[in-house]
Amino acid sequence: MFKRLRRKFGGGGVDEFSTARPGGGPGGIPFDGPLIRLEGIAKTFMLDDVQTHALRDVDLEVERGEFVAVNGPSGSGKTTLLSICGLLEAPSSGTYVLNGHDVSSLKPSARAAARNREIGFIFQSFNLIGDLTVAENVELPLTYLGLPVAERRERVAEALARVDMSERAKQMPSQLSGGQQQRVAVARAVVGEPEIVLADEPTGNLNSHQAETVIELLRGLHESGATILLVTHDPRWQSTVQRAVELFDGTIVG
Ligand SMILES: Nc1ncnc2c1ncn2[C@@H]1O[C@H](COP(=O)(O)OP(=O)(O)OP(=O)(O)O)[C@@H](O)[C@H]1O
Ligand SMILES: [Mg+2]
Repeated sequence: MFKRLRRKFGGGGVDEFSTARPGGGPGGIPFDGPLIRLEGIAKTFMLDDVQTHALRDVDLEVERGEFVAVNGPSGSGKTTLLSICGLLEAPSSGTYVLNGHDVSSLKPSARAAARNREIGFIFQSFNLIGDLTVAENVELPLTYLGLPVAERRERVAEALARVDMSERAKQMPSQLSGGQQQRVAVARAVVGEPEIVLADEPTGNLNSHQAETVIELLRGLHESGATILLVTHDPRWQSTVQRAVELFDGTIVG
């Protein structure tokens, strides 16, 4: 499955924000800088007149192909950081340069396009779509890649088999346990073989066999060249992670 990661990038349909071509910068000029560069990023939430500074003055660089852990206590901004890196949320201030392109204030449609094509998410809340079946949920990222139906089916079946969920393909997310939903979310995150995988406690709800499967999957994606940002408290990831970033109270402290 991971061999396709490279093959995918030979094809067309990749716009200027694509992270997918190694060295692919604006106008075909090779871009050798970091894949992700955050400069002075802040994120402030306003709820009932209460301001929360989820992130303040965050500088971070992630090279293409790195496997980075994001650590820190509850409420320190880990999920917010992943959401900004994954173009789910815009920063309140600061600059985000993705593969040499400033994406800090991208229009929502361009943001969504880049996100759908390049980024796979495995988040704490699984975000499966309730009125789609398991198989349809996993197929979703592939619809943006313009693959033929037969290949989509094959890849969905392969991804579900990898997380041991083949028998549940036709069920609805509400009929699954939390751990099963998590495995479907993992299948969906890896099926399109994205360049960047953002994982927030991906093994938090899994038994040890299932956790090993997920670790293996992400390790395989990483070996194929994907860049991975991972939030976890699970010590089993230790040998896989190359570098750790420590957040405290919205600031990188180490
Ligand atoms: N949508 C939101 N609206 C308001 N406040 C938010 C929102 N999202 C996050 N926050 C606040 O921002 C801060 C950082 O939250 P975040 O979810 O990034 O923390 P975290 O490090 O992921 O924590 P945990 O380990 O518990 O998941 C928290 O104080 C949280 O309450
Ligand atoms: Mg979180």
